[in-house]
Amino acid sequence: MSITVTPLHATFAARVEGADLTQPIDEATADVLRDAIDTHGVLVFPGEKLTEDQQIDFANLFGTLDVRNGIIQTGIKQRISERLVDISNIDDKGQLLDRQNRRRMANLGNQLWHTDASFKATTAKYSLLHAHTVVSEGGETQYADMCAAYDALPQKMKDKIADLEAEHSVIASRASMGFMDFSDEERAALPPQVRPLVRELPSGRTSLYLASHASHIIGWPIPEGRMLIRDLMEHATQREFVYTHNWEIGDLVMWDNRRTMHRARPFDESEARDMRRATVMDPDWQVSRHELASTG
Ligand code: OGA
Ligand code: MN
Repeated sequence: MSITVTPLHATFAARVEGADLTQPIDEATADVLRDAIDTHGVLVFPGEKLTEDQQIDFANLFGTLDVRNGIIQTGIKQRISERLVDISNIDDKGQLLDRQNRRRMANLGNQLWHTDASFKATTAKYSLLHAHTVVSEGGETQYADMCAAYDALPQKMKDKIADLEAEHSVIASRASMGFMDFSDEERAALPPQVRPLVRELPSGRTSLYLASHASHIIGWPIPEGRMLIRDLMEHATQREFVYTHNWEIGDLVMWDNRRTMHRARPFDESEARDMRRATVMDPDWQVSRHELASTG
């Protein structure tokens, strides 16, 4: 396969053409794509139209997939394979979800800047989102380059945050938008996690590891830590660090959750938007310094 990789932004994100993801990918091509995601942090593959199995097979080239990773588990009939996350506003019969529907309201949280699964015991390395149905206006996905954002911080701030850790909780991020309707079962399955604020990546670069799920800084007064997190989030999502993807049916966008944050933009929910996400886990990055310290 002859692959072309074209940058889409000054610091990150690229479009990949010439890879037919419906067909098995040979090892040489897989290596080119692994290098490309390492270099660019976001890869856009236009016009692919994959079945669920084809999307899963492609995602498996990059690591082990997370299974059953929707945050709403109680009282829901799954619409798609349990190996994919349902990022849609429709039910298993293809009907638009009711305005009050719990999955719809929890999914609205995707409009907050975040990185996937920062709140889970095993975080996400890559996400691969595939568009089955798109809306006529809005519904873009925006990405922020957290390495460029880190590099641009004043040295004083880099020193201040070097050893800090934040608590990440999806219960907290949804509560910040007024969604508190988690069952006891869901709450028990989603305990908070402690994560460093600054990450060394295998590429040798450093990123800010942030998300709306980050509620406070460990060991700091809650308001002080929350204000620092807000300040860093504002810094990292300035226009110069952001790439906006306008979806077409068949697009597959892959991103590195260690290197980027992302968010969905609003759209008119009288239209269906059907997206399905494969999530490649990051099992090498599970234990925080805080957990290590407290367990001796
Ligand atoms: C996701 C996500 C944003 C969007 O799939 O993880 O946050 O635009 N999606 O749907
Ligand atoms: Mn997401």
